[in-house]
Amino acid sequence: MTYDCKRLFIGRPEMTVLHLSDPHLFADDQGSLLGVNTQESFCAVLDDIRAKGIEPDVVIVTGDISQDYSKASYQFFAEQMAKLGKPVFTLAGNHDEVEHLSGCLSKPPLFNHKQILTEHWQILMVSSHLEGEVHGRISGSELAWLKGCLEDNSDLPTMLYMHHHPVPVGCDWLDEIGVRNKGELLELVTQHPQVKLCGFGHVHQFSEHKIDHALYCSVPSTCVQFKRHSSDFAASSETPGYAVYQCHADGSFDKHNYRVDHYLPKVNFAISGY
Ligand SMILES: [Fe+2]
Repeated sequence: MTYDCKRLFIGRPEMTVLHLSDPHLFADDQGSLLGVNTQESFCAVLDDIRAKGIEPDVVIVTGDISQDYSKASYQFFAEQMAKLGKPVFTLAGNHDEVEHLSGCLSKPPLFNHKQILTEHWQILMVSSHLEGEVHGRISGSELAWLKGCLEDNSDLPTMLYMHHHPVPVGCDWLDEIGVRNKGELLELVTQHPQVKLCGFGHVHQFSEHKIDHALYCSVPSTCVQFKRHSSDFAASSETPGYAVYQCHADGSFDKHNYRVDHYLPKVNFAISGY
């Protein structure tokens, strides 16, 4: 299988990557997840990015874009993201309708390329989506593609992005539903020292885990968060968040985590699942 490669000209040694995840949008503007209006919280996140003056070169959204699988939810996402005026790359989470996602999110400035090459970096969008399942898996063909990209560009510092978590985040209920064959991915990353970062969503919280040369890190959802260090399902009253990676030409990067402090999500704690 071959995939289109997107080449981005950044024009300076620094590159700023904005990482968002898990908007869980509905077609209905009153749609809510665990009490949180997801369109409203998503727009609050985008407003916060603009208010902070963050100017990304690339935006990565690691799945669970829709909660109701509707075409309209993807169209709403596309309209809002297009206002940023930056290239946006997405991949599917367990809540996504793959056909609608690829159909609605492939018109510039939204792209569904799996490989992005800049002058100094390679970004790879790795699918962990498993149709009909909540947990993730990286298929044999996906691993083979990833290996090929890493071998072909061994001189380029690389960031991997996926939906599910390939490392435990310390919540038993979530760690059951991460990437099931994470050992295969971790082995591949270990063999390729140019992989500097593996970013993911799904866990609705910030996490960081360093293994050898690679930092594994998640971002919160743009809507409701899950309680950290909880063995069973539990929501959290934390505000939405996102991360910005400032990537340098020498392969190093600085990571900044942000919370949308002015937006207080109205979480319904009586709901015991999602
Ligand atoms: Fe999610």
